[in-house]
Amino acid sequence: MNDPHADLNQNFNSLSPAVYRGSTVVFDTLEDFVDRKQRQPGGYSYGITGTPTARRLERDIAALEGGGYCVATPSGQSALCTAVMGFIRGGDHLLISAASYGALQTFARQWLASFGVEVEIYAPDIGADIERLIRPNTRMICLEAPGTVTMEMPDIPAIVAAAKEHSVMTLMDNTWASPLAFKPLQAGVDLSIEAATKFFGGHSDVLLGAISMRDHGHYETLRETQSIMGQQASPEDCFLVLRGLETLRLRYDAQSRSALEVAAWMQSHPQVDKVLFPPLAGDPGHAVWKRDFSPGGCLFSVILKPAPQQAFSAFFASLKHFSIGASWGGVHSLAAFYPAAIQKGRAFSKTDQPVVRLSIGLEPTQALIDDLADALRQFERQCMG
Ligand SMILES: Cc1ncc(COP(=O)(O)O)c(C=O)c1O
Repeated sequence: MNDPHADLNQNFNSLSPAVYRGSTVVFDTLEDFVDRKQRQPGGYSYGITGTPTARRLERDIAALEGGGYCVATPSGQSALCTAVMGFIRGGDHLLISAASYGALQTFARQWLASFGVEVEIYAPDIGADIERLIRPNTRMICLEAPGTVTMEMPDIPAIVAAAKEHSVMTLMDNTWASPLAFKPLQAGVDLSIEAATKFFGGHSDVLLGAISMRDHGHYETLRETQSIMGQQASPEDCFLVLRGLETLRLRYDAQSRSALEVAAWMQSHPQVDKVLFPPLAGDPGHAVWKRDFSPGGCLFSVILKPAPQQAFSAFFASLKHFSIGASWGGVHSLAAFYPAAIQKGRAFSKTDQPVVRLSIGLEPTQALIDDLADALRQFERQCMG
């Protein structure tokens, strides 16, 4: 009689990656244990630097980015902060685009500045003029393209060229385009950041971040920083993102097609003042976007005609296919609101009007357009009454 428990892995093969858990890594010998740190940056010495589930995800993301190495972290924000903390020290000058993710700017202004870092926010459309801001102690320039509220499109090659000229590192948040539409590392950026929470995961049920790079020294530094800062992504979350990556291309193409159609429809609506979406002809960033990026993107913003606050409330209350929420990139469409006061308070702001941001999911495009048409009718009714 066969003992069914003799070899639990016998003849088991699956299409799913295994979820390896482990805080403790165990060693065969005392010598292996003593030398365990030498296994970094790729190997396993303690759970904080990841298990084979994280390594598999890091391998797949690095391949997508066209880079050599990747460090997975527990969220997009943790990827941004870990990457900056790996290289910035007191006395350094750090340049951050005003279009960067707000929490990165807050981290720099409220934490890094108090540790003696000279933090300077620059205009997203600065281009080659960034050179004028570079000081002898400038260590890093952070970019985001486009900005994910008012969609400013920077001239990435011009900024990267100026940075290289002065041996300054560059970091780019590439979440909006994803590596399917733009590969920062191929454009000469040192560190490419993805909030895998958005397109990679794709289902609004996981937080995860990724830092990709080509330089092995940077990889060593960031693995060490991940360990010291305790920034370990959970194996289950890595699994969810690995699963999301299997459908990334299909979702990306479908959501992008739908987004372009919805954005073009919005642009011709009388209650809409402006649609901010670089893939649309007429957007101020369109030419630069077309030069540097492949088609794609599911996130755009809309500035409606000036209206009282209750008109915006009526617009949001009417939506049936769009949920109200701050994230984006998933299969469910989302709508977010950025009040006028926030826009007025931003450095180098593109508008002093409220911004409605839409993330287009996988619902039928016509259903989304009909939903927005109803919402705009409610908006208009409040304006008139
Ligand atoms: C462009 C961009 N970068 C980074 C983040 C942060 O990602 P996470 O929510 O995973 O921390 C976000 C989240 O909204 C984002 O939109």
